[in-house]
Order: sequence, then C-alpha cells, then structure tokens
Amino acid sequence: MAYLTSQGGQPVLILKEGTGRRRGRDARRNNIMAAQIIAEAIKTTLGPRGMDKMLIDSLGDITITNDGAAILDEIDVEHPAAKMMVEVAKTQDDMVGDGTTTAVVLAGELLRRAEELLEQNIHPTVVVSGYRKALEKAKETLEKIAIPVDLEDHETLKKVALTSMGSKAVGVAKEHLAQIAIDAVKQITEKRGERNVADIDNVQMIKKEGKSLFDTELVRGIVLDKEVVHAGMPKRKEQAKIALVNTALEVEKTEFDAEIRIRDPTQMKAFLDQETRILKDMVEKIKKAGANVLISQKGLDDLAQHFMAKEGILAVRRAKESDMEKLARATGGRVVNNLDDLGPKDLGKAGLVEERKIGEDKMVFVEKCKDPRSVTVLIRAGLERMVDEAERAMNDALSVVADVIEDNKIVPGGGAVEAAIAKKLREYATKVGGREQLAIEAFADSMEIVPKALAENAGLESIDILVALRSAHEKPKGHLMGVNVFSGKIIDTYKNGVIEPVRVKEQAIKSATEAASMILRIDDVIAATKPKEGGKPGGPTGEDEEY
Ligand SMILES: Nc1ncnc2c1ncn2[C@@H]1O[C@H](COP(=O)(O)OP(=O)(O)OP(=O)(O)O)[C@@H](O)[C@H]1O
Ligand SMILES: [Mg+2]
Repeated sequence: MAYLTSQGGQPVLILKEGTGRRRGRDARRNNIMAAQIIAEAIKTTLGPRGMDKMLIDSLGDITITNDGAAILDEIDVEHPAAKMMVEVAKTQDDMVGDGTTTAVVLAGELLRRAEELLEQNIHPTVVVSGYRKALEKAKETLEKIAIPVDLEDHETLKKVALTSMGSKAVGVAKEHLAQIAIDAVKQITEKRGERNVADIDNVQMIKKEGKSLFDTELVRGIVLDKEVVHAGMPKRKEQAKIALVNTALEVEKTEFDAEIRIRDPTQMKAFLDQETRILKDMVEKIKKAGANVLISQKGLDDLAQHFMAKEGILAVRRAKESDMEKLARATGGRVVNNLDDLGPKDLGKAGLVEERKIGEDKMVFVEKCKDPRSVTVLIRAGLERMVDEAERAMNDALSVVADVIEDNKIVPGGGAVEAAIAKKLREYATKVGGREQLAIEAFADSMEIVPKALAENAGLESIDILVALRSAHEKPKGHLMGVNVFSGKIIDTYKNGVIEPVRVKEQAIKSATEAASMILRIDDVIAATKPKEGGKPGGPTGEDEEY
C-alpha cells in the first residue's frame, strides 16, 4: 500500500495500491547503479582492442557485435534509468552514427563520480550546474582543438573511416570498405549554398551472404531485390531508359460483381479484344515515351507482360515505394502516376540494367548511372553474422565520412581529445571555485575514462598510461597525444592517423552529460504497477515497497 502520512498521523491514501515508490538518496542511488551497470557492460567493447558481445534473443537468433548501439538495442532493459542509457546510445547513433559506446561509458562515469560527491553531502543541483558549466567549457575546448580538413584530402577521409572501423571485426577488409564508404558519401554529397550536405539515407545497403568481404561493392545506382517479371523479357539492357510508374498495368476490375450477358460468340470476342486493346495501349504509351525498361510500384497484367516482352522491354513489378524514390534520385527520372503523363523527359537513365544472381537470389541492378544522387553498397561476407557486423561497420564508416564532409573538422582519437579536455577543465575548475569546482573536477576525471578504458581493454596498466598521458599533455602540442593500444606507448594520434569527426565527440559528451544530469535530478520514483496476471506488484526494480 502506498500512502502519505498526514500531519495528524492519519494515513492518507494518495497512490493506488501496489504503486512502488523510492525517494531521495535511495532513489538516486538506485538509478545511478542501474545506469552504471549498463555502462560497465559495454565498456569492455571500447576501442580497437575491445571485445565483442554475443547476444541471443528470445527466438534464439544470435548477434555478435562490438557496436554499442546494437548491443543495447538487443538487450531487453527493464529499469527506467538503464533505459535512459539505451536512449543515449540511440540518440548518438541517429545523430552522428558512431561513438555510441563512448557516450554511454561517459554517462556512466559522470554518474559514478557524481555519486562520490553526493556522498560528501554536495547537493545534486550543484553537481548538475557544475556539469553544465564543464560541458560548455568542453565544447569550447573541442572547437579549439579541432583541425580543419580539406575535403579533397582523400587520405584524411580514409583515416577517419579506418578509425571508426578499428574496433569492428572486419579487420582484413578495412581498407576496401573505407574506400567504398568514401566513394559512396562523395557521390551523394550535395552543395546547398556554402554548405555540404551528405545524407547517408541516400546510401542503400543490401546484404547477401556468400563470397567475401572483399567482394563488397559500390553500385552507382540501385539494386532491387526483385526479378525481371517475364521469362520472355531481356535480362540485360545497356543504355537503359527507364519508365518509373506508380500505376498498375492492369484492366481495372469493377467493385461489384458485374454480370455480362453474352448472347453470341462475336460478342465474347469483342469483350476480350477490348481488354487486350486497353493493355496494348498502355504498353504502346511506354514504348512511345522511348522507354526500354519499366519499373512499376504496382502490378503488371500477364498480357501486358507478354506485350512488353514482345517489344523487348525489361520490366520489374511491385517495387517498394522507398526504392522508387531512390531510383528517381539515382537515374534522374520521375515517378509517374498516370501513363498518359509519361514523356521522354520523365525517363531515368542508367548505363546498365541487368538481372543477376547473387547468392541464391535474383536481383535487378540499375547501375552505371551518370552522377546518381542515390547509390547502393552491396555487402558480401562468408557468414551471415559477418555480413551483419560488416553492415554496422559500413554504417559507422559512412556516418563518420559524412560528418567530416558536412563540418570538415576532426580531432585526434585514442583518448587524446578527452585528455586534453580534462586538462583544460581542471584549470577552469580552480577559477570557478566553491563546491562547483568539485563537480567540474569530477567531470574532468570522467573524461579520462576513455583513454583508461582503451588501455584496460588492451590489457595495459591503465594507471601508468594515465600518468604518462597527463604528463605528455603538459608539453607543447601535447593535446594531440593519445594511447597507442597496440604498443602501450603514448603517441601523437593525429600524426598516426587515429582521427575522428569533431561532431562524434561533441555529441557523445553532450548526450552523456544530459543523461547524467537528468538522472541526478530525479529524487522520487513513483512507478505504477504493471497489469501483470498473478504477478506480484512491484516498483521499478520489481521489488515490492511500502512507504
Ligand atoms: N588505432 C587506434 N588506437 C587507439 N585508439 C583508437 C584506435 N582506433 C580507434 N580508437 C579509439 O577507439 C574509440 C572508439 O571505439 P569504438 O568504436 O569501439 O566505440 P565508439 O565509437 O564509442 O562506439 P561504437 O563504434 O560502438 O558506436 C575512440 O576513442 C577512438 O579514438
Ligand atoms: Mg566507433
């Protein structure tokens, strides 16, 4: 039973029976612990020497991955504070595509350090305001450290892509995949005024197991998971002129059961002839527009297929709506809703349209498009799970290349930028003074979790590494120094090509701080019971509590 006690000592029932409630320090400690457990769980995956996780869902499907967002997406988290950590990873993935592990690990560490301050009787609002100041300073420092990139500097883009794939199990084919990521993003980048816009939604990814990672390819166009609709049609068209239609090549059936009385055989023939003529007219319109390929979002009547086969037109039916849009972007064509509107100007162009057998399936490639605004990466690998991880690696690589192309700034990785921010924050903290100083210092210490975890995951003595790193940062140009996780030395990570988009770091620090602050501000958790049959009502932790 949950109720509040009134002044007269008379219990007043406020909350519904069975409602769980935690308050004050207890609520906070419980939330912090849950969030930290999530952070701890994925910390071991951070960096090129981080480990992978094997996840088995309720249907027994297995995922093996190193990707923070993918791990948290797979595990079914119950605790509300833990759910917030999952949100952090999701936001990071949606906004910038990489750095999900970093964001969650940082949030966990910010909370752990905050709890230490709470133990010293520092009020949570002081910690939160200190963290907010620290965040602003961190962002400022990032801006200062960020190094501009020339977008024609192919080598640098490649290093960014390689760094993002460093931790994924695609090691051998990294270079190959990085190259594809760069070519794909460059192809779909558009100039809007002075700005570059690289929307990687315009890079479609198709996965097929079989062959090897090295057979992953960039298709300058779209791959449709469809077959050519009629056996009598050509399976290959060079210099394709493509009609993209969103209308069925069928004779419309009436809504009602119509009855047609036919009295003599000529009438029957006339009736069928009319249907034939309608379909023939439709095919005629396509031919007249000059198309030799038809891709329809809707159905194609058997007879229409037959006429098209006779005309040598290659046709695909029931293409997905999203694919139609991409086809339009890739071929420069327009999706037409009415065949009467179809003219030569509406046709898309592709150097080649061809049906090919990929693995066990037939697919139609619309490729060799001239300057396509939408492209496809066809991902190949021997094992299904490898194909999946390669897709995640490719997604990270595409994202970081797009991030750099959009705001052309990078920062040194391997914990360098985190250590530099920590140093700046410690200087800043002394200027702020008071209790907030302690919070800013806690924030600084939290930043160092990144180099620390990178070192730990590489089996290095993290304390020694941190000491060496701090002293390296005291020297001129020290802000470029990070951890070489292979040799255990402190190196200039920028010079060694371990670089990341500034946007990935900024977003990670921002969302980690936001999540931590939000969790710290909670001092009361009131949870309604889930309508569980026969189950015991419980609070957020499943415990049954009474106040
Ligand atoms: N060769 C390298 N040497 C040292 N550190 C590296 C190297 N390559 C990458 N890193 C560092 O590894 C960290 C990134 O690790 P990882 O990719 O596992 O996690 P994430 O990017 O935070 O999350 P996710 O990729 O799962 O979304 C960054 O701090 C990056 O600087
Ligand atoms: Mg990464």
